[in-house]
Amino acid sequence: MKKKSLMQLLLITTVSLLLLLSFCESTDNPTVSFNDDILPIFKTQCTRCHFDNASPGNLDLSSYGALMSGNSNHPDNLVVLGYPSQSLLYESIASDEQAILPYRMPQGGPYLQGIEIQLIEDWIYQGAKDN
Ligand code: HEC
Repeated sequence: MKKKSLMQLLLITTVSLLLLLSFCESTDNPTVSFNDDILPIFKTQCTRCHFDNASPGNLDLSSYGALMSGNSNHPDNLVVLGYPSQSLLYESIASDEQAILPYRMPQGGPYLQGIEIQLIEDWIYQGAKDN
């Protein structure tokens, strides 16, 4: 009888730990890929204006290297690794209230969908990797 309740306790503990572990994992957003998730957004919504260094804002969104080259008008805060809310790239798409730019991106709309904004936010939060 004593052995049985010990086993039950062990089982309950194990199950609780597993549940806790799966809960922790599910609160972390999945890893965002620049090539699979972010670049396709830029290609469909941004590169008709931002296709080379002479584009508006001197911003080229046609590749990871071009985006991170430091050629834009705001190289210091264009992408602040780990801090989407301080990154002009994120601010430009996320809100109608623009502190630095004259208008929200893409200029003239239609603006990005919530899921696309979330992907860009997560990508910067995760370190804006070339992945
Ligand atoms: C219809 C053209 C157009 C489209 C499409 C467009 N932009 Fe822009 N973008 C502009 C113009 C014009 C500026 C310059 C605004 C200014 O400073 O006067 C600009 C500037 C920017 C800047 C500021 C760059 C800097 O360093 O100063 C960012 C960031 C930006 N755009 C992001 C985006 C993103 C992200 C997309 C796609 C989701 C996008 N834009 C789509 C026209 C466009």
